[in-house]
Amino acid sequence: MTNHHIALIPGDGIGAEVLPPAQQVLDAVGARHGFGFSYTSYDWSCERYVREGAMMPEDGLDHLRTKDAILLGAVGHPGVPDHVSLWGLLIPIRRSFRQYVNLRPIRVFEGVDSPLRAAAPGEVDFVVVRENVEGEYSEIGGRLNRGLPEEMAVQEAVFTRSGVTRVLDYAFELAARRGGRLTSATKSNGIVHTMPFWDELVAERGADHPQVTWDQEHIDALAAKFVLEPARFDVVVASNLFGDILSDLAAAVAGSIGIAPAANLNPERTFPSMFEPVHGSAPDIAGRGIANPIGAIWSAALLLDHLGRGEAARDVTDAIAAVLAKTDLRTPDLGGNATTTEFTEGLLGLL
Ligand code: NAI
Ligand code: MG
Repeated sequence: MTNHHIALIPGDGIGAEVLPPAQQVLDAVGARHGFGFSYTSYDWSCERYVREGAMMPEDGLDHLRTKDAILLGAVGHPGVPDHVSLWGLLIPIRRSFRQYVNLRPIRVFEGVDSPLRAAAPGEVDFVVVRENVEGEYSEIGGRLNRGLPEEMAVQEAVFTRSGVTRVLDYAFELAARRGGRLTSATKSNGIVHTMPFWDELVAERGADHPQVTWDQEHIDALAAKFVLEPARFDVVVASNLFGDILSDLAAAVAGSIGIAPAANLNPERTFPSMFEPVHGSAPDIAGRGIANPIGAIWSAALLLDHLGRGEAARDVTDAIAAVLAKTDLRTPDLGGNATTTEFTEGLLGLL
């Protein structure tokens, strides 16, 4: 029985080690709830780039367009510049498929030590909503006078009313469904055009969501508060660059980057959305079978939620919490000595 057709892009390094566990979890939880998956796997990666000169084929996006969702491991390989893997695969997918919300949940699980004294298990549970297709990561700009003393570089940030409004609406609606609190990341004291515009739109959208209490913090102060008081946050909304930095910081707060999941969402569902762990291909541990699969498995839970399988999604996050709280199974990044396979088996046993 196939209800959902998933495109798998394992990518490089540990990407290919953490996707099979996520797939096993999807199949197991689907069987329990009476639905199934079929998968089409693509070898798009830096390895392919080295072999064929491109991360994906020219008609790559057409392959993905018809799928219900995309599950990606990680891309990146020593020797291939990181902008190649980013601009040759991830950014075309995010932009062409209007995945303008980058959703990154953060939790400190019982049984996992956060590096922060203030981060008690169970108390830290928030979501970073990052604008994913415009803002500071734009292609507008250029370089002049290369190699000369007057050499210069200009990079323009692009903030549009429609682009900011739609991600803010997503964040406010998410806050309304969660704890009812939203924090906006800004820097309108230093960045005097785009950030005041962002702030105005936050106030405008806030007025339309009276059930949500919102505030705003300058990005530098906000970074400090992530460390000092991580339990005070519920939904944090940020531009592309600010959200990128905040979500990696937040993943570290949760104890290991190997835990953190991400969803690249096209909320209108005109195009497939993409789910991927926050971590990269981890060449330092690749091939040893010790990668933490939680980030990929939690990403699969976000995929389930997006496909309208909320109960199954909750089963998966409950199983992650249970294996950490009730067993000693830990991969080495969390201080244990379980392999990826042993950890996955333990989690499947509690699903
Ligand atoms: P990374 O996330 O791959 O690794 C950072 C550190 O965390 C390493 O020590 C690694 O061993 C550890 N780590 C990461 N994931 C882990 C897991 N699941 N279990 C246990 N330990 C884990 O970031 P790094 O080293 O900066 O980048 C390596 C490559 O990955 C680069 O080529 C980079 O461009 C790429 N990358 C790709 C991303 C993506 O595909 N979305 C995101 C981030 C990096
Ligand atoms: Mg990042």
